[in-house]
Amino acid sequence: MIHLTFEYSKALDHISETEIKKYQTEIDRYYKTLYRKTGKGSDFLGWIDLPEQTHAHLLDKIEKVSAVLRKKSEIFVVVGIGGSYLGARAVIEALNHHFAQLKNNEDAPIILYAGQNISEDYLHDLLEVLNDKDYTMAVISKSGTTTEPALAFRILKNHLENKYGLEEARQRIVTITDKEKGALKQLADEEGYETFVVPDDVGGRYSVLTPVGLLPIAVAGYDIRALLDGAKRMKAHLEQDYSIEANPVSAYAAVRNELYSKGKTTEIMVSYEPRLFYITEWWKQLYGESEGKEHKGIFPAGAGFTTDLHSMGQYIQDGLRNIFETVISVGLPNNELKVPSDKKNLDKLNYIAGMPIHEVNRQAELGTTLAHLDGGVPNLRITIPRVNEEMMGEMIYFFEMACALSGYILDVNPFDQPGVEAYKKNMFALLGKPGFEKETEEIKKRLS
Ligand code: PA5
Repeated sequence: MIHLTFEYSKALDHISETEIKKYQTEIDRYYKTLYRKTGKGSDFLGWIDLPEQTHAHLLDKIEKVSAVLRKKSEIFVVVGIGGSYLGARAVIEALNHHFAQLKNNEDAPIILYAGQNISEDYLHDLLEVLNDKDYTMAVISKSGTTTEPALAFRILKNHLENKYGLEEARQRIVTITDKEKGALKQLADEEGYETFVVPDDVGGRYSVLTPVGLLPIAVAGYDIRALLDGAKRMKAHLEQDYSIEANPVSAYAAVRNELYSKGKTTEIMVSYEPRLFYITEWWKQLYGESEGKEHKGIFPAGAGFTTDLHSMGQYIQDGLRNIFETVISVGLPNNELKVPSDKKNLDKLNYIAGMPIHEVNRQAELGTTLAHLDGGVPNLRITIPRVNEEMMGEMIYFFEMACALSGYILDVNPFDQPGVEAYKKNMFALLGKPGFEKETEEIKKRLS
């Protein structure tokens, strides 16, 4: 039995049950297309079977290597970008103490990230911190050629070698990349780094349940088997029944596509728990890169409430009516804290004295949902009972499968990302990369 639920009753002012149900035939067809691997991008469907086909010996190896890394590290640096970083960060930040970086937890290293930007100041500050700490790192790149992580890795490798010497530096680096292609693979082979493989048939943004996500999550101290169990449970549930009534993925895919057809072109993923911020970032990448093609696709946006009610709230309540909200609602917090009573009550908060903070948050969520509904914003709700490894596994698989189905309903290939190449070509031309001489000449003319 799964614990995640999906509810769309608060969208029914904008779309009808009949309109939603008309997606059933398409959904049945696309499930078959996915399982038979006969649709667009069918070379990249390996993620479907990861929950149950990840070998025990791979999990053993990940746990063994991560135990060694944990022993050696006060800090563990994850070097990667896009799908090679967001899934790990999403799960780690969801499960971590909010102020993990300030807690002296001897059992778990602090996880830091690099290679997800090209900021000189960011890298400078990172090196400054790493000067005084014992650290290890994983460099993650499926292609093994992406500029941002390659640049960060060059800098960190150099730093690590100067700090520990060549031999020990080698013991502190793990690579996660293609089994045979790419500059990173070649480097790993020559240096003899510990290496994990990103399967050929799993694209970056669907790779969180491969070593790409599992290794950093294990180093951070979380139970990767429980994560996979959650995903497995969701997979088994979805396979029992494709009907929109019984299958939350079918319902989410149908509802969001129907809203899109009614002009609701922006979906705002909302959470009232700051620990889920990077789940939203991961979701934005998954859906943005999968659906935003051929001048089509729902624009995936994110908001953290109640924080953003004091910034984006005005727009959502009253701005252009092309948005709908999907709320990730958390049933229970992992800790207890109640509003204290105050003798003077100068802040006039005694009316909620004794109330758990989570209950205050829940009432804020309900009040906001109704206010936004009144403002013409349809509301979808995904509820998880609490934040833990299993629920993260259920949610990851839910969003991945819904993304694949949604992409097929939209009639795009949800597994490629041709648009990402455009900026790279210009950047390489501007940097004067060998092989880009013609482009360099052309781009210089455009800029003069
Ligand atoms: O989803 C994707 O495929 C992309 O976001 C990639 O993960 C990202 O571009 C990083 O690519 P690579 O892992 O090859 O460095």
